[in-house]
Amino acid sequence: YSFSEIIEKKKHSIELSAEEIKWLINSYVKNNVTDYQMAAFAMAVYFNGMTKAETLALTQSYVESGYVYDVSEVTGLKADKHSTGGVGDKTSLVYSPLVASYGVKVCKLSGRGLGVTGGTIDKLESCKGWTSELSKEKFIKTINEVGMSITGQSDDIVPADKKMYALRDVTGTVDSIPLIAASIMSKKLVIDSDSLILDVKVGAGAFMKNVEIAEKLANEMITIGHGYNRKVSILLTDMQKPLGKAIGNAIEVKEAWDTLNNNGPEDLKEVVCTAAGLTLTDLGIFDKLEDAITDCYKKLETGECAHFLEEFVEAQGGNFELIKNYDQNFTTKNKIEMIAEKDGYIISQDAETIGLLSMDLGAGRKTKEDLIDFSAGIYLNKKTGDVVKTGDVVLTFYTNFDINNDWIERAKKSFIISTENEKQQNIIKIIR
Ligand code: URA
Repeated sequence: YSFSEIIEKKKHSIELSAEEIKWLINSYVKNNVTDYQMAAFAMAVYFNGMTKAETLALTQSYVESGYVYDVSEVTGLKADKHSTGGVGDKTSLVYSPLVASYGVKVCKLSGRGLGVTGGTIDKLESCKGWTSELSKEKFIKTINEVGMSITGQSDDIVPADKKMYALRDVTGTVDSIPLIAASIMSKKLVIDSDSLILDVKVGAGAFMKNVEIAEKLANEMITIGHGYNRKVSILLTDMQKPLGKAIGNAIEVKEAWDTLNNNGPEDLKEVVCTAAGLTLTDLGIFDKLEDAITDCYKKLETGECAHFLEEFVEAQGGNFELIKNYDQNFTTKNKIEMIAEKDGYIISQDAETIGLLSMDLGAGRKTKEDLIDFSAGIYLNKKTGDVVKTGDVVLTFYTNFDINNDWIERAKKSFIISTENEKQQNIIKIIR
């Protein structure tokens, strides 16, 4: 094959064969195709899309580029859940202990923050000592002993995606449905599981800004799953507003811990219990989704699954006492409260604005080299749908940086107070 033939075909929307796609990706990983050639290919895909067969071949070429986990030594049923990324999305930190409490083993590969979307690995690193860099043996051992483990994408895991992702990030080709679908699914397919739940976030604080595009991505990922004989259940959930009340890193682990101890925000509980309910019905532990969801809510009330989070963090070297004594350990130089200037109902809180603010406060990275301030973040004292009175605190900033007036202005514009309340929707759709 030659690169020029392949790019000409893609440019004219002529379907590429699986062999051509595999040759291309393989050549790129081996540095036989240059970054500028691959950037041209990615942009052609961005404009012309890919057929289902092409997307499946792309995913296969990613999967085949690196190590595939052998999870045959994991005892019992295996579950995995992944989110396409959002603001305040700590679902995995509650879902995993909850599902583990049913005897199901959670085997998960997670990522770091990307743009305004936070990353599970960054959040967990606020428990000093915690690491995602596990040997393959340690990963399996932790899953069997604790019931759950989360590892990261080391250099030998889907290296083709790692290289493509870094290229897409700087060439305006992140938001292409086939490229996202192959990227996400390849990282889910290298660890075999009996149930895979994909939480596709929709709205201002997500990559997918509207339901139509989110559904397209969902269907693309289901097709890839079927190509691998994997059952995939999809949740489309709202990311117009942040999920839960905490946005940042340590503050999100704290909220996950509180949620596991019967003190969590309603929207987070709904997303967690629905995702866990889908897993439990996919695995045949419950027949009906409603029954599974009801049982999950009960488990959160009793607090009986909280210990799984603590044991998992400690098994991977982290100090969980820091989270248990959050107030002493994650103080910041500055704390600023935003006040409601009128009475009414909060009808919207813009996830993108709040996510960007949280990054400015120190909770995210603007360049790959930036260090995260684990104590920085935002707490939403009021959530969409809540009643507020003039003078009530709506949200609080925590930062070690000096306060910038621009932040205050943006924070004021991040929420809308109205005299009429609006119904809030958390789960948009379930596709299975
Ligand atoms: N997350 C991924 O892993 N890949 C993408 O392309 C987008 C989100």
